[in-house]
Amino acid sequence: MKTINHVSEMIEISKDYGGKSVGFVPTMGALHAGHLSLVKEARKQNDIVVVSVFVNPAQFGPREDFSAYPRMIDKDQKLLEGENVDYMFSPETSEMYPKDFSTSIHVGNLTDYLCGYYRPGHFDGVVLVVNKLFNIVKPTRAYFGQKDAQQFRVLKSMVCDLNMNVEMIEMPIVREADGLALSSRNMYLSPEERKEAPILHLAIKYAVDQIKLGRKDAYKIKREAMNKLGIYPDIKIQYFEIVDEKTLVPVSKITSKVIVAAAIFLGKTRLIDNEIVNV
Ligand code: PAF
Repeated sequence: MKTINHVSEMIEISKDYGGKSVGFVPTMGALHAGHLSLVKEARKQNDIVVVSVFVNPAQFGPREDFSAYPRMIDKDQKLLEGENVDYMFSPETSEMYPKDFSTSIHVGNLTDYLCGYYRPGHFDGVVLVVNKLFNIVKPTRAYFGQKDAQQFRVLKSMVCDLNMNVEMIEMPIVREADGLALSSRNMYLSPEERKEAPILHLAIKYAVDQIKLGRKDAYKIKREAMNKLGIYPDIKIQYFEIVDEKTLVPVSKITSKVIVAAAIFLGKTRLIDNEIVNV
């Protein structure tokens, strides 16, 4: 595996991949088995695999965890070598966002609810960096986890609207044995919080089971599921929503494919999770 730290070097490489397909996994590092499932799929489907490791300041709000976000580049490097990755692209912030940087991109509609509502500007930062990374790496296919279901749909919309020639692939959520979705932020949890964290998936699963039983009243199902989260006083629910799978608008009556999605604070740690239900 070759480690590339300069944008110009990655651009030089991507000028000529010799007609080979390129699978790209953008990450912010602190890699876990969820990321590695994307890398493995990219390895299966492509001749060349590129993984970026870049903690993107543009997608963090002023009171969010940008400076505390876990950085463990040596460990990440070893994990990616173990997956037979061809290039790890890990640029400096000053190269991605030089002093005179002044461009912004906004994806509307899909960002109105869920994380988009509670993290203003977050998806502007995500689409900006992914757009830049696509221009630098020039992938054939790009891989993202379903845990960030809104992120995937927002990025897919950007790719479609801007006529970008990248195939977007969404991979299933990887979970711990007790159901907690893998996330780099799980390492912030205290042992006590870690014990409570699986309740997030249990509450979502409760809603999913009710929908599968044929219940249609989204509001009632939501209330019942949120009550389950109420058993731990240190959990603060940011949102618990049942949204249309395509538009990401909350539904009142469940008649088509939906996403049950939630975000909670457990102590200082923000956790998100979701399930897609086909009715
Ligand atoms: O999902 C993430 O880790 C990030 O949002 C991404 C897509 C790498 C952009 O910084």
